[in-house]
Amino acid sequence: MSGVDPASGSAASESASESLAENIELAEKSDDLMMIDPTGTEHRLLPELSSTTPEERVLVVDFGAQYSQLIARRVREAKVYSEIVPSTLTAAEFAARRPSAIILSGGPKSVHVEGAPAIDPAVYELGIPILGICYGAQLIAQQLGGTVGRGGSGEYGRTTMTRSADAESVLLTEDIPQTQEVWMSHFDAVVEVPEGFRATASTPGAQVAVLENPDRKIFGVQYHPEVVHTPFGQQLLEQFLHQIVGLSSEWTMENFVETSVAAIRAQVGTGRAICGLSGGVDSAVAAALVHKAIGSQLTCVFVDTGLMRKNEGEQVVETFHRHQGLELIHVRSADRFFEKLAGLTDPEEKRKAIGELFIRVFEDARGGITDAQFLVQGTLYPDVIESGTAHAATIKSHHNVGGLPDDLDFDLVEPLRSLFKDEVRAVGSELGLPDEIVWRQPFPGPGLGVRIIGEVTPDKVAVLQEADAIVREELRLAGLEREIWQSFAVLPDIRTVGVMGDERTYGYPVIIRAVTSEDAMTADWARIPYEVLEKMASRIINEVPGVNRVAYDITSKPPGTIEWE
Ligand code: XMP
Repeated sequence: MSGVDPASGSAASESASESLAENIELAEKSDDLMMIDPTGTEHRLLPELSSTTPEERVLVVDFGAQYSQLIARRVREAKVYSEIVPSTLTAAEFAARRPSAIILSGGPKSVHVEGAPAIDPAVYELGIPILGICYGAQLIAQQLGGTVGRGGSGEYGRTTMTRSADAESVLLTEDIPQTQEVWMSHFDAVVEVPEGFRATASTPGAQVAVLENPDRKIFGVQYHPEVVHTPFGQQLLEQFLHQIVGLSSEWTMENFVETSVAAIRAQVGTGRAICGLSGGVDSAVAAALVHKAIGSQLTCVFVDTGLMRKNEGEQVVETFHRHQGLELIHVRSADRFFEKLAGLTDPEEKRKAIGELFIRVFEDARGGITDAQFLVQGTLYPDVIESGTAHAATIKSHHNVGGLPDDLDFDLVEPLRSLFKDEVRAVGSELGLPDEIVWRQPFPGPGLGVRIIGEVTPDKVAVLQEADAIVREELRLAGLEREIWQSFAVLPDIRTVGVMGDERTYGYPVIIRAVTSEDAMTADWARIPYEVLEKMASRIINEVPGVNRVAYDITSKPPGTIEWE
């Protein structure tokens, strides 16, 4: 697929675009979106564009690194809708998605390696503006007849890029300095641009750091404009999207709410929907959005397992029922959970017991609303990408909201499927949800059950709730809440000797766990100031009866996990 022959390019591409046009027409008419290409191979096209997909959209082609998600997010920060697609799409499949522009992401491979991912060369003939980043830039050079040098010294990290004095650039705006810092991560480099292109900037390790063909609106940058270490990176992306492609800034959460509300109404009609609220931000925002669309046709079920954080149950009821006016079934089932957990000490057995009982309780509650055909779920875009694209590694097993299995007999309403987490928070604020919900840290489905080592009892839950509340409160008072991914207390199954006053004590230790992370796949222990840790420790020992010692967990993930069980 890689390496179109530049000499025979134009004649071949004319007939290619003719058959392409026919195929696109065929594809658009076909009900099941199947397409047969000129070689007789069948292709399944991507799911139909939905009514909520904005007219202006950018496709980010995933070449297998983590960069594509970041690029897609940066495009959305420029208020343009973006989606990630696999590099294996044919040109017809690209065209059927009707993108306003295509961005080719970076990737871990060399274009010279056997089997390196490439795009269908006919994509370059579609007349759609293209920006290649790092690997994407090299691919453009290679596929359109330029030369990519192998190896060399490569460049990793910050480097200085200088604009060419003699080549006019449309991508690098006038207000970008002549020399600027950019972030690089490459081994190969473009050494010769394809015909019709010009090199407009260079770095010590890349004589072609930027290549441009303004007539065809095809561009490549060797550096990574999407990372924060490239100060003028976002400016470059915006120049491409707004000035060169001419896209407006319509992807806002206000517009999203408006189009989603219409789409949810169209999907649910006069039907009834239910939603499992877990107290977490995703299910909360999904519920609030669906409620805005269909009002009392939605009933939420909140299974209170007794394993929530301090006051969490009341807060969910307060926020959703009293303030938002949502119809809410609050199932107080702590007794059932404690009964089921009695005597269980193995982490997996505990998780299984909690998960199974949760489903049973949810199903019982659902019995009261027999006519509900729709189930609202807070699935986010990263979950969709992880299960959907060719290259992104599947690292995380998906946790459905509240731990519900996929095979419940419902039609799913998933209004957040196209959103990243930061966008979900913005929608939550837009819908008037309080900060405590919108900025809530992730909380595991089995709740405090996986933070109490050994048998879970009501007494231990009470101790842990108090200690945990202090940890989170002190972190909030120190203004560190939003920098920390998760912060909580853990209660191990051991006792320790201490002395308080003149008395010997024999009590529980509490372990404080606080981590920074981007996505929970990896995490680092948070460097909380000693004074804050000291305050937490002294308050826990003084205020929580039965606790006489506090430790801080300084394990990263890997090798540890975030939760203790
Ligand atoms: P670990 O402990 O595996 O956790 O590093 C990674 C992230 O997942 C959360 N977590 C869960 N979330 N159901 C959930 O919805 C679960 O069973 C579950 N177990 C862990 C954990 O809090 C962290 O954010």
